[in-house]
Amino acid sequence: MLKEFETASPPSSGRSPSPANAGEDWKRYVVPQCWEAFTADDHAVWDLLFARQVDLLDSRVVSQFFDGIDLLRLSHPGVPDVEGLNAILEARTGWRTVAVPGLVPDDIFFAMLATRVFPVGNFIRTRDQLDYLEAPDCFHDMFGHIPMLAHHDFAEMAEHIGRLGTAAIAAGVGEYAARLYWHSVEFGLALQGGELKILGAGLASSFGESHFSLESDAVERLPFSVERAVHTPYKHDAFQPRYLVSQSFEQTIAEVLALTPERLLAL
Ligand SMILES: [Fe+2]
Repeated sequence: MLKEFETASPPSSGRSPSPANAGEDWKRYVVPQCWEAFTADDHAVWDLLFARQVDLLDSRVVSQFFDGIDLLRLSHPGVPDVEGLNAILEARTGWRTVAVPGLVPDDIFFAMLATRVFPVGNFIRTRDQLDYLEAPDCFHDMFGHIPMLAHHDFAEMAEHIGRLGTAAIAAGVGEYAARLYWHSVEFGLALQGGELKILGAGLASSFGESHFSLESDAVERLPFSVERAVHTPYKHDAFQPRYLVSQSFEQTIAEVLALTPERLLAL
């Protein structure tokens, strides 16, 4: 589900430009969203997914998630248009979304984050693939990720992960940053009000795994720390066998923000 890190592979795979150039090269991956090209059925699929997931998440997600949904008016029917979304998001936290046609390489993704740019797919799943995605679509990206970027401290953390990722890739340990991202922004859990809640976008946007992560007896749930996150492998093609649980939403943010690139490389 991790859009940008399906393989968490370092850029040595040859599919990425040099990290030294990624600071500007990310712009080459941006395409027009072509919102007008979404069909009536595309919009209906968004509405179906949105209603189903809001109903499912209810009190299962950290409260900041629905704060973001409300602030960004994401409950408006149909696939959101990037420009309308950015008009609210950029004014609030300086983050903005750009459309991309699919996966972007890791170094490009981190470079985007470091400049408060979040890539969103310019497509949506079909009605017969509601629960199976070969690549994350705009529902995963816009419903799962963007609400949290309206929160000022989370917004700062996400930018910081971009800088950490750029440094980690340059040092040949991109997987450190990919795992940190995975176990916080994508698949993190956190305690809130004494209850276990969803923090990560990969869970918030998944009908099956949102339940599974909170309720399954077949998984490990371990306390979150940046050290553990960096050294905990993950699955990109199946439900996670283990989740990291923060003491609070704020703990995740504080720990990540306190992590310098130098310390990350030494972990
Ligand atoms: Fe994602």
